[in-house]
Amino acid sequence: MIPNPLRDPRDRRLPRVPEPCALVVFGITGDLARKKLLPAVYDLANRGLLPTNFALLGFARRDWGDQDFAELARDAARNAARTPWREEVWERLAGSVRFVQGSFDDDNAFDELAAALGDLESSHGIGGNAAFYLSIPPAMFPVVLKQMERTGMAESTPDRWRRVVVEKPFGTDLASSRELNELVDSVFSAEDVFRIDHYLGKETVQNLMALRFANELFEPVWNGHHVDSVQITMAEDVGIGGRAGFYEKTGAARDVLQNHLLQLLALTAMEEPVEFSADEIRTEKLKVLRAVSLPEDMRRFAVRGQYEQGWLAGQRAKGYRQEEGVDGESLTETYAAVRLGVETRRWAGVPFYLRTGKRLPRRVTEIALVFKRAPHLPFADTDTEELGNNQLVVRVQPDEGVTLKFGSKVPGSVMEVRDVSMDFLYGEQFTETSPEAYERLLLDVLLGDATLFPRNAEVEASWAVIDPLEEFWAGTTPEPYRAGEWGPRAADDMLAAEGRRWRRP
Ligand code: BG6
Repeated sequence: MIPNPLRDPRDRRLPRVPEPCALVVFGITGDLARKKLLPAVYDLANRGLLPTNFALLGFARRDWGDQDFAELARDAARNAARTPWREEVWERLAGSVRFVQGSFDDDNAFDELAAALGDLESSHGIGGNAAFYLSIPPAMFPVVLKQMERTGMAESTPDRWRRVVVEKPFGTDLASSRELNELVDSVFSAEDVFRIDHYLGKETVQNLMALRFANELFEPVWNGHHVDSVQITMAEDVGIGGRAGFYEKTGAARDVLQNHLLQLLALTAMEEPVEFSADEIRTEKLKVLRAVSLPEDMRRFAVRGQYEQGWLAGQRAKGYRQEEGVDGESLTETYAAVRLGVETRRWAGVPFYLRTGKRLPRRVTEIALVFKRAPHLPFADTDTEELGNNQLVVRVQPDEGVTLKFGSKVPGSVMEVRDVSMDFLYGEQFTETSPEAYERLLLDVLLGDATLFPRNAEVEASWAVIDPLEEFWAGTTPEPYRAGEWGPRAADDMLAAEGRRWRRP
């Protein structure tokens, strides 16, 4: 075993290390594999979190040998790993890297893959366990899943586990996601299916549960008696990069509102789970997703936008319609905002404002609970004008942490009250670096821990929220906003109509 310098010897927590196993990645040459998955595998190895008997298999069409794949994996890991580079760790991993060449409809290639897994059992002692990561377009799922079924690769037995990892988007609407779920569930048993929503792998998102359920301070006010409204923001300064083909068909609501934002809402609004287990947490999230209501007046409370040319960080930014591969008259939205309700005793009457957009002024994801104003202010003749609502803000990224905003007396001889904030910053309180979301999620797949993976029913309940929105928006022109602005004016009007304002994070 290579000594692990990243581990503090005083750390009393036992590292969770999976059983011997293999990770098989389909779509190994794609963006996700290179930018996230391969670096995450290296980081896990570097942190000593992979079993000694581990193998990494790539499957793709390229005419490659094991060595070519190992080189691609090495470059990817070196470029994007979060932990320091240690050649000896890589050398050890490289010894168990295999490549199988073929297309998805090629029976021989899948027979070869099954045989390779068999060989690795004797040569690397992987115990027959394997996780298959489908980092491929959903349209390819049927053929790949059928091949796995045909070759018996998908079958878990009492002696070995076989798991599948599916990336979002899980379908494009409720009907297609049902079909996809049925297909996956017909080949793998439900407990062996891991649907990735990488936001759930983010440390701060998990901290939301710690914040709520490990403390006495917050939960008593975490409800409609005290909370005026909730704002969930996922803003990105980037545009669509080279993903026009995908994005044109998808848009902001399907790309992130359906999954990341609704999962954040579910974690914010859910009841305390009976225990911290996959089943119980997912059950509570599902209840919330089923209780989500759309605004009656969608014209006012659901806004979609599209960025036009503008300026961002001193640089000129193209408009969406001028991006390479985008239709010059595209009606795809790059911004979406909506007011949702959660029809439960805890949240009845509290609006949940969700927004996401590309080419906004900065990259920031946060969940803000905006509290009601104090029922009475006894400072009659003093300056309390600047006093806003108390706010509790969970900063998901960047500057991960939590901020509490409240009123405080300004030093001096008069009673002047102003807003101040109290900050908790991960970077200041902890010396450990947070693992990257994919690192955590890959590890959980290999451990068989499904806590951070949405169930199929959650995915379907989320589409049930998005479908009517998409129907309402179909064929309409998104509201324009300039790149570098906080979205279209209509989104501001939406909150102003109810006497509220978006936070400017
Ligand atoms: C992905 C979306 O799921 O999340 C992208 O498809 C988006 O459009 C990305 O850019 C954002 O992820 P993160 O972790 O950088 O906030």
